[in-house]
Amino acid sequence: MKGPKIMESRSPASRSTKGSITLVEMGRSRVVVFTGAGVSAESGLRTFRDSDGLWEEYRIEEVATPEAWSHDPVKVLRFYDMRREQVLAAEPNAAHQAIARLQEYFDVQVITQNIDDLHERAGSARVMHLHGEILKARSTVDPTLVMPMNGPSLRLGDRCPLGSQLRPHIVWFGEEVPLLPMAAAMIAQADRLIVVGTSLAVYPAAGLIHYAPDHAPVHLIDPNDVPIARRGVQHIKEKASTGMPALASSMIEGISGR
Ligand code: OAD
Repeated sequence: MKGPKIMESRSPASRSTKGSITLVEMGRSRVVVFTGAGVSAESGLRTFRDSDGLWEEYRIEEVATPEAWSHDPVKVLRFYDMRREQVLAAEPNAAHQAIARLQEYFDVQVITQNIDDLHERAGSARVMHLHGEILKARSTVDPTLVMPMNGPSLRLGDRCPLGSQLRPHIVWFGEEVPLLPMAAAMIAQADRLIVVGTSLAVYPAAGLIHYAPDHAPVHLIDPNDVPIARRGVQHIKEKASTGMPALASSMIEGISGR
């Protein structure tokens, strides 16, 4: 499928319920939660662009592009092996848990730029990974051939059933984002959009917020300033682990009078 390719923004400025039957009958409102590295920061996974971020230590061109893969696949595999090791050692935090709790009351879709599985481990049932998943590998000849990893690392010589080298199941810079149209359609149907812990510096993902309908409240949870070119966004300037549970509680109180 042809589509927009992933790239960093060039401009610095854009750098069950217990009452579930009743809610189902009423029609649950649709909540999309769009997350970035900040939601996993308090689980010990480094973000990319904060002062201690991964892109301070590594160059994108050397580890996260198709050219890097052609030039030095061992270096690329080592970089993602380290990411995988850290993800396996991490645990979901209060933000992941609050997002999962929302699905007891709302029709929730998580769209994440993260490659970790912390939303799933916290219990979120519907999680779309726009930029891939670190615990999966994929064929280098057939991008639809995606499989769970058998062990913690990928090596040169690890092959897919078609006999080609396996690569990390990651969308690299310069590659298309196959799930983007589906993500845009989900956000266009949302009654509420919650954006958590993303610098909105990477396109096309960052442009997704513009698909939210005008009537849908949009909340942004991030302790830092984020350039968000949409009016009426409520910026909750807190860390995800405090901002997200507080927002979830107020949303739940709003519908159930708790
Ligand atoms: P960034 O590192 O660009 O942004 C992380 C955001 O999280 C920043 O806005 C921080 O202020 C915020 N943040 C930090 N700590 C937080 C906390 N405790 N609670 C809430 N927010 C916090 O990460 P992303 O926006 O996710 O793609 O980056 C987007 C993409 O760029 C990634 O998916 C990755 C990266 O290159 C690929 O590698 C393909």
